[in-house]
Amino acid sequence: MGDSSLLRELRGERADTPTVWFMRQAGRSLPEYRTLREGTTMLDSCVRPDMAAEITVQPVRRHQVDAGIFFSDIVVPARIAGLGVEIKPGVGPVFDHPIRTEADVDALPPLDDVYDAALAPIREAVGLTVAELGTTPLIGFAGAPFTVASYMVEGGPSRDHLRTRALMRSQPEVWARLAAWVAELSGRFLRAQVLAGASAVQLFDSWVGALSEDMYVSSVQPHSAAALAHVADLPVPRIHFGVGAAHLLAPMLGAGATAMGVDHRLRLDQALDLLPADIPVQGNIDPAVLFTSEEVRFAEARAVLAAGSAASGHVVNLGHGVPPDADPQVLTDLVSFLHEQGTARA
Ligand code: CP3
Repeated sequence: MGDSSLLRELRGERADTPTVWFMRQAGRSLPEYRTLREGTTMLDSCVRPDMAAEITVQPVRRHQVDAGIFFSDIVVPARIAGLGVEIKPGVGPVFDHPIRTEADVDALPPLDDVYDAALAPIREAVGLTVAELGTTPLIGFAGAPFTVASYMVEGGPSRDHLRTRALMRSQPEVWARLAAWVAELSGRFLRAQVLAGASAVQLFDSWVGALSEDMYVSSVQPHSAAALAHVADLPVPRIHFGVGAAHLLAPMLGAGATAMGVDHRLRLDQALDLLPADIPVQGNIDPAVLFTSEEVRFAEARAVLAAGSAASGHVVNLGHGVPPDADPQVLTDLVSFLHEQGTARA
């Protein structure tokens, strides 16, 4: 497994051919996923080990990507810890009781051995997945404290995260306790996946781009660092990713990541200028090219490879997740195209 192209790139040893996987590669873009999921809610499918394993493997089988990403969701740990949360189709995670006051934080369930024991279906699913994937590595993941806590505070998806940002400013101690709780929640979830066989982890801080650098450094970075610290003693690379977070790339690395995911708004060569030379990058094909001609798509793929060739390591990915209406054949063809390219060093 240590010889896999994913782990080589993430250690900063270039592999012979480009390495690629896609955020949200499992899920609604695949007909075999839609068939399997029929009659089971999203969150129920995540805690059924056989289903979670099968859904994780589906895109690897179909597209020949170089890694699996564990099928779960950033709110699965909250559900396992006992919070009322569901994923409303077409909407996203919705919590029964938004967390907005000190009393709400006091009432959060403790994250003790009971929670660890309740992660058993996750360990079992990861074990099944790793056995099924064979030599293809599995990436474990969790949601970062800001992104998960913002769903908890808002009660559901939000465009500007205003309530969350207001809470951070008006009741910093309440925010800090909530973020620390989520760091423990996500950190233990990450650790469980690695101990069960995941070869790398990704911490998603999808909505952190809503924050200024000052707010990030003072109120979020310590909590993301606490989440990542749960796996820092384990021999796995730690990828960290945010959307619209070019201004946070360096401080997010400072939270304890070993590689940085970059969205499609920032060119990889510009990202490399913001990071130490030995930090591998991941990204960042614009998902919009999945809906263009092959000519446009392959030109974008070549440009991303060229920009990534200057990095110490580069894992090709999209700049954000696979949209549900993407044509799966387009993804399969993109993977073959990428695998046919050499990794030209700059
Ligand atoms: O293939 C993979 O990437 C693994 C599975 C995965 C899911 N969610 C499955 C899922 C991963 C890594 C996530 C992470 C996640 N979940 C993030 C961070 C990544 C990102 O996209 O920025 C966030 C912000 C969430 C929260 C969330 N969950 C949203 C916004 C949604 C979409 C709601 C909708 O219906 O449009 C979900 C639901 C979700 N998570 C689905 C899947 C496959 C779709 C639900 C379904 O299939 O019924």
